[in-house]
Parts: sequence; C-alpha cells; structure tokens
Amino acid sequence: MIQQTTPEVGGMGHSIKRKEDLRFIQGKGNYVDDVHLPDMVYGHVVRSPYAHARLKSIYTEKAKALPGVLAVITGEDLAKANLAWMPTLYFDKQMVLATGKVLFQSQEVAFVVAEDRYTAADAAELVEVEYEELPVLVDPHKSTDPNSPILREDREEKSNHIFHWEVGDKAATDKAFQDAAVRANVHAVFQRCHPAPLETCGCVADFNRATGRLTVYLTSQAPHAHRTLFALVGGIPENNIRVVSPDIGGGFGNKVPIYPGYVCAVVASLTLGRPVKWIETRSENLQSTGFARDYHMTAELAADKDGKIQALRVKTLADHGAFNAAAQPSKFPAGLFSICTGAYDYPTAFCEVDGVYTNKAPGGIAYRCSFRVTEAAYLIERAVDVLAQELKVDPVELRQKNFIQPNKFPYKSPLGWSFDSGNYQAAMDLALKKVGYAELRKEQEEKRKKGELMGIGVSSFVEIVGAGPAHTFDIVGIKMFDSAEIRVHPTGKAICRMGTKSQGQGHETTYAQIVAQELGIPAADVTVEEGDTDTAPYGLGTYASRSTPVSGAATAVAARKIREKAKKIAAHLLECSEEDLEWEPGKFYVKGAPSKSKTIQDIAFAAYTNLPDGMEAGLEAVDYYDPPNLTFPFGTYICVVDIDKGTGEVRVRRFVAVDDCGNVINPMIVDGQIHGGLTEGLAIAFMQQIDYDENGNVQGGSFMDYLLPTAVETPHWETDKTCTPSPHHPFGAKGVGESPNVGSPAAFVNAVVDALAHLGVRHIDMPVSPWKVWTILKEKGVVS
Ligand code: CDP
Repeated sequence: MIQQTTPEVGGMGHSIKRKEDLRFIQGKGNYVDDVHLPDMVYGHVVRSPYAHARLKSIYTEKAKALPGVLAVITGEDLAKANLAWMPTLYFDKQMVLATGKVLFQSQEVAFVVAEDRYTAADAAELVEVEYEELPVLVDPHKSTDPNSPILREDREEKSNHIFHWEVGDKAATDKAFQDAAVRANVHAVFQRCHPAPLETCGCVADFNRATGRLTVYLTSQAPHAHRTLFALVGGIPENNIRVVSPDIGGGFGNKVPIYPGYVCAVVASLTLGRPVKWIETRSENLQSTGFARDYHMTAELAADKDGKIQALRVKTLADHGAFNAAAQPSKFPAGLFSICTGAYDYPTAFCEVDGVYTNKAPGGIAYRCSFRVTEAAYLIERAVDVLAQELKVDPVELRQKNFIQPNKFPYKSPLGWSFDSGNYQAAMDLALKKVGYAELRKEQEEKRKKGELMGIGVSSFVEIVGAGPAHTFDIVGIKMFDSAEIRVHPTGKAICRMGTKSQGQGHETTYAQIVAQELGIPAADVTVEEGDTDTAPYGLGTYASRSTPVSGAATAVAARKIREKAKKIAAHLLECSEEDLEWEPGKFYVKGAPSKSKTIQDIAFAAYTNLPDGMEAGLEAVDYYDPPNLTFPFGTYICVVDIDKGTGEVRVRRFVAVDDCGNVINPMIVDGQIHGGLTEGLAIAFMQQIDYDENGNVQGGSFMDYLLPTAVETPHWETDKTCTPSPHHPFGAKGVGESPNVGSPAAFVNAVVDALAHLGVRHIDMPVSPWKVWTILKEKGVVS
C-alpha cells in the first residue's frame, strides 16, 4: 500500500510538472555542444566512401598545410600507441581509425583537428585516401556462404559467423510440433533501424597537462561505465578521469557504446594539451553509430485444434554489421530475446540465434528496448495473429485462451525467466472496452462488403526490464547494480545523486518524488543530480528501462535507511522510545498522541544540532541496489487502421494503449513516455529503415530518407493503465519507458495484415510503406 502524500509534498502518484522543463523550455539546457572551454579546438572525422576496401595509402600533408589545422591523426598513428583498435561492449574489437582496410561505408579513417569546426571540415576534404575496392557483403543470409569474402582478417576464426546461441528444450519442442494438430509459421524481418536522437553524439575531451586530469564531457547514457573503459583502455588512472554527461537530448540506446570519435578527441587532447570538441553531423550519426534490430526471424507455433498453444520454435539470423558492438549484458549474446514466449502459457519452447558479420555499420544496440525484447515481442505477437488466421478464430479470443493466468505468478517461462507478476486479461479487457472492439468488428464486416479496407491489430506484449540481478547480469564484467545517494541538509532540503543518467525521461522530477514519498520532504525541495562521475555514486546508467526498477529502488532503500536514523533522532527529541513512534510521510508522531510529533525538517536540523549521545552527525545514506529479479511490465495495444486503395496509404484511425507498469511515480511522465514510444513505434512500423544497396551504400543516411514522424503523421494516442505491482520492487514499480516501442510495432502491422487478411495476406514486413501495400493490392487484383 502506497501512503498518499499531499500535492505539496508530491510523492508517488502525483502528476507534478517536470522540474527540468523550466530550463529546457527557456532554451537554457546545457548539452555537450553548449560546452565552450578556453583554447578549445575542433575535430572532424574523415570517413570511407566504400563499404569494403583495402587502404592503399593516406596522404595527409595537404590537409596539414591548411592554415588553422593542428593535427591529422590516422590509424597508423594510433597503432603506435596501441589504440588503433578498441574493445566493443560485447567481446569484439572495433577499429578506432581504419588500418589495413575499411569494413563499412562511413567508417572512420582519419581525424582532423583545427582551430575551428569549419577549417577541420575543409581540411578533412584534403586528406587523400587511396582505396582498392573489395567485394561487398550486405546480405546476412550470405555471410556464411563459402563464396562470400571473409570480412574480419584480424580474427583467428576465418569466418563471418560470430555466435550461435540457443535456449529451451529442443527435443520436447520438436516432439510437440510432430504431434500438433495445427502449425503456423511466420518469417518476419525486424529491419535495421536507428534511434536517431535529436542530439547527435559528441564530446569535449579536456586533458590538463598540469594536473594530469582528463575531463570528458560526453553524450553518455552510462558515464561511470565509460570512465572505467577509458581507464582500462587508455591506461589513465580512473581517479584522473572525470566524465560529465550534461543534458542529453535523447539516447534510446544510441549513447551507450563508445564511438571512435570520442577516442580520437581524447587522443587529440592528450597530444595537443588543449580541449578538443567533436560533434557528429546528423548523417554521421545515422550512418556510423549503433544501429538497432536487423533480426531475421522465423517463429513457428504448434497448437491443439481448439487453439491451445503447445510449443514455440524460433530461429533467427542477427546481422551485426562489421563489428559486434551490441551493448548488452555479457551472458546474453542475443540479449533478452528469450522473452519471445510472450504472455502465453505453454509447456515448451526452443529458440536459436546466429550472429553474423556484414559490411555495415556496427551495433545491435537496444533501441528503447531491454536488449532484443522489441524483436521478441514483435515476433510472438505476429505469430499469434498468424496462428489465429490458420485456426480461423478471432486473434483476441486466441490470446485470451492462452494467457498466463494471474494465479500462476511468479510464472516460470519455458525459456527460463521467472515473470514477477501479471494480469494480462485485465489489460486486454480494458483495451477492448475502450476501443469498442465488438462494434469495430461489425463495422469491419460491413466495410468489407463494400470493398473498403479496415483493420484491427492487437498486441498483448510482455517485457522484461530492470537489468539486472548481479548474479546473472554484467556489462564487460561490471555487475548491473545501480545506486542512489541522498543527503538531507540541516534545513530539511536534500540532494539525491544517482548512478543513472536521464536523457529526457524526467529523472530530476521522479527521483525527487520517490524521496518525497519515502521521507515526506517535498519533491520541490529535493535536487536530483546525475551524470558527473566525480560526485555521483557508481552506477551502470540509463537504458533498457532500468532506472526505475534499479536506481528507483536504490532511492527508496537509501531513503528508508535515512528514515531509520531519523526515527532514532525523533525518539530523542520526543523523549520516547522508538517503538512508540509511528510514521506518516513527513513526520514521526507518538502512537495515540498525534500532536506529539517531529517533522522530517525538525529531525534534519537536529541531525546537525541536537543528536542523541554517541550518534554520528548528518542525515544521509547511499544504496547500491542489486535487484532480486527483473520486472515484467505488460500491456494491450489495439490499433485501428483504414487503407486507401488508391495510394496504399495506411491511416491510423485509433490507437488504444493500456499499460501496466505496476505502481506509477508520475502519471503524466509515464503518459509522456508512452506517447513518445508509440510515436517511435509508428515510425518503425511505417517509415524507417537503414537499408543498403548491393555496394554497401547506406540508404537512409539522412532525414530525407530516414523519416521522422511529425505531429502531422502522428495519430491521437488513447492511453490507460492497469496496476499490477511488482512483488519484489521496494515500491511495486516496473519500468515503462520502452514498453510503447516494444509493444506497438506488432499492433500496427497486425492491423494492416488484418485489413488485408481476407485477400490471403499473412504477413508484411516493416516498414509498411504505401508502395508495399499498394503493390500487394495490385497483386491481389484489388486495384488495377
Ligand atoms: O530507464 P528509463 O528512465 O529510461 O526508464 P523507466 O525506469 O521506465 O522510467 C522512465 C520515466 O518514467 C522515469 O521518469 C520514471 O521515473 C517514470 N516512471 C514512473 O513514473 N513510474 C513507473 N512505474 C515507471 C517509470
């Protein structure tokens, strides 16, 4: 039970306005590109026009001769310092600047440093690189073909195969398929896409020769982990490195990896003894930084003839590009893809994934996703719809028949996860009611008679967020705990410092609300600080909706530690024993005598002025929280579309999103998260793809080709909630930030396929462009 706080205190459940917006809406944010240091110079990356080519020579003299140019760094130069390659976050290595050959278009080849940004860019044009083109490999299905070129000559293993990973009971699953009355399968490609945060990646590296201290202002979702990696790879003592992530303009996983530009800026600053700024252009961001998805998946479902699912079998090919730079926990080569069993209860499943190299930008990052969970949710939600088509039953009815029932939680999934809590039927019921499902089906029937195309798409997704329990989860060996440090000042105001880093999620508001809830200090009186490794406690950062499940939990636990001490001080002030005291948010009072009380502000003052004998002064605590399990948010999304037969254009008429993230800290912020994620899901479903032609040229390397939805393309989102608290989280919350991106692509695609199902359409790959739909309509003879 969450105790209610007043609106003035603003604890859990209050939609208080975001504190950070005061500076953002006034244009007073402080992003990396706003950092201007005395004597600062600028870097620019020279990139490869080829996807696969041998580097014959690099001639830098002309560039160096341009007035204002201070240095041109090449891979050969870095090799002398043993920095030409760097480790990726997933047991691979990646070239910082190319030596020998280039492996993808836009790969980093040289780094020019000049007095100003424009001179650096002009000089980059003067760097002469001689390339010898090599055969290009873009199709992951051909990666292991004996006729394909071996891309990674640096590896001992002479193959483009990176890993094979499998989980589940293969024999039992195969048997279930043999015995099944009904089988359905879908081959679904989750296309390569890119998070495209509004602020691109960049840094200012400032090495102070006098003190030996390196300060890096960095667009980083994980400042502490990045500091440790700089120390390990660069050999600079960790105490001499300070990473500062100031305001971050969107991350979505794109700002988790370390990019060559950061390393080059650091090397340049070490070499020149001056601060070096490097900020990507939009095209550089789209073409060279961590991409997402690129999963080529087949799912098969086996079922009884009455529609009870018996087994799931999944086979996936993962295209990782030129280097395996997936940012994910080390024990999970395919991330948490094994959540692909979904919201359904069946006895057995088997899942296998193979990762391969191609001549494309590296990555495999978790774009608003808990490590491949989006791919998994999309796959199972598409597969269930295909099974419904096979069985000729309503997709809602099929889902309801197979939902894991509320009394089965904690539920052990056939692929090994322990789902903490869930009530999938409740979310479904609310969504059906809100959208008016039965009426919509009737309307669809009428429309079909008239030859009009209308579809209803349902997605009942389950997520897995809050990485993660330290016994299983680490990134490059660092356990995935997270932290909070709260210090209450004498006047009862407080500062809360975190191991996470907001990129727009509103942490400065919601962490303050957790403190308000636990201590009764008004949220307005709590300053939240993140992103400075000199002051914040060590943490693994913000991605994969882990902030609330892990650092949010740490905040509550740290606050409770403070409350314990506060109770002792209150007993001293009220001259009673601790056992006689009751707590309500903001004060301790004597049982049976509520007027005899001490507020948290009284207690804070006493913590510095009037302590019990022998007690240490101050009122503060820190907590490094190791979650006992992940949290499993879920929801039901229902999308209604109309299709224009003349153009193939899909119009999203309605979209109802019912989410369940347990107890909510700030309903308005959660709604904002849902709106943003649904808009990204819409973009992925209908507009976005980083594609390559047969020569490895990026198609989708600018916002001319890689489309972002504006308010014009974005429909009205209808949101609602059910509440199934997490039983193991200190205040029953689950993460939410990525849910809408995870759950929505399937709802959109299911709606389009549903509109065309009577024509025999079973699947359409994303992005579902008007051209693709119109081509299908033409093939089916609907339009001539
Ligand atoms: O890690 P990240 O911040 O991206 O994701 P999150 O933990 O899902 O939180 C996103 C935002 O929603 C934060 O401001 C959270 O505090 C807020 N939130 C909430 O108010 N209630 C929840 N149950 C979950 C998140």
